[in-house]
Amino acid sequence: MNKKTLNDIWIGGKKVFVRVDYNVPMDKDGHITNDTRIRATLPTLEYLVSRNAAVILASHLGRPKGSVVPEFSLAPVAKRLSQLIGREVKFASDCVGLDAEAMAKALKPGEILMLENLRFHKEEEKNDPEFSRQLASLAEFAVNDAFGVSHRAHASVEGITKYITAVPGFLMEKEIVFLGQALSNPARPFAAIIGGAKVSDKIGVIENLLSKVDTLIIGGGMANTFLAAQGFAVGKSLVEAEKLELAKTLIDQAKTKGVNLLLPTDVVIADKFAADADFRPVSVDSIPDDWMALDIGPKTAEKYAEALKGAKTVVWNGPMGVFEMEAFAKGTERVAQAVAQSQAISIVGGGDSIAALEKTGLSNKISHISTGGGASLELLEGKVLPGIAALADK
Ligand code: 3PG
Repeated sequence: MNKKTLNDIWIGGKKVFVRVDYNVPMDKDGHITNDTRIRATLPTLEYLVSRNAAVILASHLGRPKGSVVPEFSLAPVAKRLSQLIGREVKFASDCVGLDAEAMAKALKPGEILMLENLRFHKEEEKNDPEFSRQLASLAEFAVNDAFGVSHRAHASVEGITKYITAVPGFLMEKEIVFLGQALSNPARPFAAIIGGAKVSDKIGVIENLLSKVDTLIIGGGMANTFLAAQGFAVGKSLVEAEKLELAKTLIDQAKTKGVNLLLPTDVVIADKFAADADFRPVSVDSIPDDWMALDIGPKTAEKYAEALKGAKTVVWNGPMGVFEMEAFAKGTERVAQAVAQSQAISIVGGGDSIAALEKTGLSNKISHISTGGGASLELLEGKVLPGIAALADK
């Protein structure tokens, strides 16, 4: 990595502004339903505290669009962090202003202060220079451990680096190393599995991966558009008619580039889009007019699992079917199992793929589970992420 790391700067006794992505899911009573993103930052925070840095934590939560929306307060997150790290986490009720400044100033080495939601100020998303300067004035260094928001040129992510030096935290470093390595210098054979409902969400990813992978496996709703492009009648399945030409082009590109492009040969069809639908597996050339494909079929799932054997790098993003409904979760679960069992360097991103892995209980067999949804997709598209670009170079 050509960026400075935490080990390259002397952090002892310093005030450090740590940008994290604590955009965690909450239920309607304000309880955190998944704290993975908080846990994922603990190595960085524990390191900083052990080096006697005074830690000023900042994050966004939800999309309050520049106004104070109490349900998006980070106060419950500060409480959860305090339980997880086993220390007091002080809380400032605004991220800038006199109180935040006074609390940051009074913070002693080894103490932690969390600031209220950055997005309560519209200046955060506008990357406002004055707002960036105010955030920067709280600390001497910035540490960015918020990979999930590194595709956003926001004040706390990008603007702040114009005023104080920013280095990646350990989580950010891990994300950059795993995803960066897979894309720039993968161990081969390199296989990618791309799923999800729509081709339109993943065009950039597929185009970019076609120049990098040896095998590209397509599943999920988007596979229907590829099947339709190949001339199969797909009944009432979700198809993006305006993307049929593009799907044909991608199939041709795969041939020209020598990429082994795998599409479903059988699918699980249903008579309606519902958990209690009638369903059965059929070959892709036998989808009745008034049925729809909601999962890859068992033969396809085995074929995909087989194709992953022997791969040295595997990247997976997106489910193979309507994973939320038990009847259509099998394809995704089989792929989750195959990715977990492979000896490859395995990298998984996207909420549904991660949920499927957790369900199989095999998450610990994955080399790297990305904490970034949009950010990891943009990296897979080959884009330069502003939050990463702004980190100090070596
Ligand atoms: C995420 O959950 O993907 C990140 O926290 C970014 O959130 P955003 O899409 O609201 O910028």
